[in-house]
Order: sequence, then structure tokens, then C-alpha cells
Amino acid sequence: MVQITQALAAALLATSAVGHPGGNVNRDILRRQAHLDHPERRTVQSCKRDLVASGWVREQHMRREARLHELRVAAGFAKPHELVRRNPVEVEETYGEAAACTIDPEATEGPYWVSGELIRQDILTGEKGAVTHLDINVIDTTSCKPVTDAYVEMWGSNSTGVYTGVQARGNGDGSKSAVTTNALRGLQPTGANGTATFITLIPGHYVGRANHLHTIIHHGATKLPNNTISGGTISHVGQFYVEQKFLAKVEATAPYNTNKQVQTLNAQDFLFQMGKKGGEDPVLKISLIGNKIEDGLYATMDVGVNPKAKQSPQPVNLWTSAGGVAAPNSPWTGYPDTCKYCGFGGGRPPTKRDAEVVEEVEEDPEPEVLEWTDQ
Ligand SMILES: *[C@@H]1O[C@H](CO)[C@@H](O)[C@H](O)[C@H]1NC(C)=O
Ligand SMILES: *[C@@H]1O[C@H](CO)[C@@H](O)[C@H](O)[C@H]1NC(C)=O
Ligand SMILES: *[C@@H]1O[C@H](CO)[C@@H](O)[C@H](O)[C@H]1NC(C)=O
Repeated sequence: MVQITQALAAALLATSAVGHPGGNVNRDILRRQAHLDHPERRTVQSCKRDLVASGWVREQHMRREARLHELRVAAGFAKPHELVRRNPVEVEETYGEAAACTIDPEATEGPYWVSGELIRQDILTGEKGAVTHLDINVIDTTSCKPVTDAYVEMWGSNSTGVYTGVQARGNGDGSKSAVTTNALRGLQPTGANGTATFITLIPGHYVGRANHLHTIIHHGATKLPNNTISGGTISHVGQFYVEQKFLAKVEATAPYNTNKQVQTLNAQDFLFQMGKKGGEDPVLKISLIGNKIEDGLYATMDVGVNPKAKQSPQPVNLWTSAGGVAAPNSPWTGYPDTCKYCGFGGGRPPTKRDAEVVEEVEEDPEPEVLEWTDQ
């Protein structure tokens, strides 16, 4: 059973009033804590020796340098011969100290997972903002080898903090406008190097959460003729964040600067704080392609997974040729704003265990929240 630490109880208490619109932050925190308590939890850093010895760290680093250079050349900010390489030995020595990485299992799918999305690299579909070339590297933390046959699914809110494919109170103006687009959602296979590559945006913010991107890692899925996947298992459900000072610069650019929603900083976001606990780093490593954010960005993340782990996130909608439609067993029974059991349960009726959690949470009158913000 999950041990509810005092700090966790405080987090539950403090977030019970805010959270994802239509979502369930308490469940998310419990899930993350269960992950941190898991006896077999392993990090990407714990594979460091093997990854360095196999040459993966060096190869991966050189590949990323080359990729950034390629993007710079393509955008006219460098000449082909101008690639400057960092000493790979130095890179190997520091790998893991500040590696952006997050591990299996677990954060949360949140209330806006739409399944049935398309396999495609460019998921912008007309959305405007800080265009980001994103490389996600998936590592098997049980073998310390790249996972070459997974599908990485990504989704995020648009630059003004609205998710596509769904309609809900708190998702933009709650109107139907976003249901018929699949922008900023898609899947990519990991190749020989375990890398899935996307073109997306730095996500905008919305009430109650720090800016974040969602990911799900699929294994053993079958590619269908219409470029979607079916079947398989899910080993990892996670979220990636953006360093706060850099994010402030992004938020100052158009159209982020037209977002009227209240922003939550990383330090104020309990899922972010939980994501950082246990020596993990869910913050994307981001480089400018040119001289300013508007010239485009290159971002990377290493994700460690146990491919045999099985998570069962719940999609609210399915993407179809007619747009987002309610998924079977969707926690939403209709539109708009009909999340049936929002609060505890994430779409299922409250259980006895949920009630116990509420009691434990309410027993702690002195939230010790501040201790987390410095970590
Ligand atoms: C974000 O999506 C919403 C809903 O589709 C839309 O109204 C809004 O204009 C989008 N933001 C930007 C900057 O395009
Ligand atoms: C893997 O990395 C190597 C060297 O960094 C590169 O030459 C190769 O093209 C990459 N393979 C894939 C499938 O990305
Ligand atoms: C793709 O094909 C599957 C299987 O026929 C179907 O269920 C799904 O709705 C299709 N998706 C789209 C976006 O057309």
C-alpha cells in the first residue's frame, strides 16, 4: 500500500481545491508516490555505467549535436562545415548529473488523453507558438539498452493553454472549437537508436497546472493501414516540463502573451515537484536553433522504462475522422463539463480506499509544502 508521507498528505490537501480542470491531481500524486515507493524502481542514471560502456551516451550525444547543427544549417544560422563538437569524454563524465530524464512508471495521463491519434512527426497542424523539434529517447532500465520498437505518444495544450480533441469546462472557453482538430497530438516509433522525433510547440499554460507535455510509451502495438496503432501495452505515462526562466521568455512571445489564464509556476505545481523527487529530472533540455525563440527550438529528453510494466491510463476521447468522440468507459459522460466522478477516482466511483485517503489528508492541519520548493 502507498505510504502517505506528511509531505504528500500536505500536497493532497493543498491541491484538492485546484488541480486540472475536470481532473484528478490527488490520484496523480498517489500514483507518483506509489512509483517512488516501488522496490524495483530504476533510473536512467542507474544505467549510466552500462550506457557509457556501450558507447550509447557518446553516440547519442553526437547524434544530438549533429541534429541541432542540421536544424541550424537548414534555418540559415550555420554553415555545414561549422559543427563544433563538445568533448565526448566530458559528456560521458557528466551524463546523468543533469540529464533530462524521467522514469517508469509514472506520472499521469490527466483528463485529456485522446487515443487513436495518428503516427506523424509534425504535429503542429496549424498551431502557432515556439516550434520545438523534440527528440525523445527511450531506454530500457532493466537492460540499460535503447528501446527500438516502441511508439512514443505525445500531446500538449496549445500556446494559449487549450487541448485539442476534447471539450470541457476549463479547456479554453469550454466551447466545441477544439474537438475537431488533432493538433499537437501524435505518435512516433523509436528507431534503431531508441529515438522518437516530433515537431511540436512548447505548451501554453492553463489554470492549476504548470506548462507540461504529456507522453505515453506503447510496446507491442500494431500499426494499422490508416496510420494509427492498435493493441500492445503501455509501460510509461509521464509529463515533461520547461525550465522556469526559459519558459518566462517563451511566455513573453506571441501568441503565448495573449493567454489570459492564470499561470502556475513549476515550483507551485505538485506534480512537477513529485516528478522531480527520487533524483529524476522531468525538465526538457532545450537549445535555440537561431538567435531567438521564434527561430525554433531543439529539445531532448531521455525516458527510462521497464517495457514489461503495464499501466492502464484512461482516454476520455477517441480520435476519429469525425473528430474526438467519447471513448468507451470515458470518465466523461457527455459534453460539456460532465466528468462524472471528478475528484477522487479519475472517472470511477469513489472507493473505500479513496475515503481513507481523504481522512488521512484531513488529519494533517499543517501543510509542510515549502520544503519541496527548494529541491
Ligand atoms: C488554442 O486553441 C483554441 C481552441 O481551438 C483556439 O480558440 C485558440 O485560438 C488557440 N490558440 C492559438 C494561439 O491559436
Ligand atoms: C543512430 O545513431 C548513429 C550515430 O550517431 C547514426 O549514424 C544513425 O543514423 C542513427 N540511427 C537512427 C536510426 O537514427
Ligand atoms: C483507423 O482504423 C481503425 C480500425 O479500422 C478505426 O477504428 C479508427 O477509427 C481509424 N482512425 C481514424 C482516425 O480514421
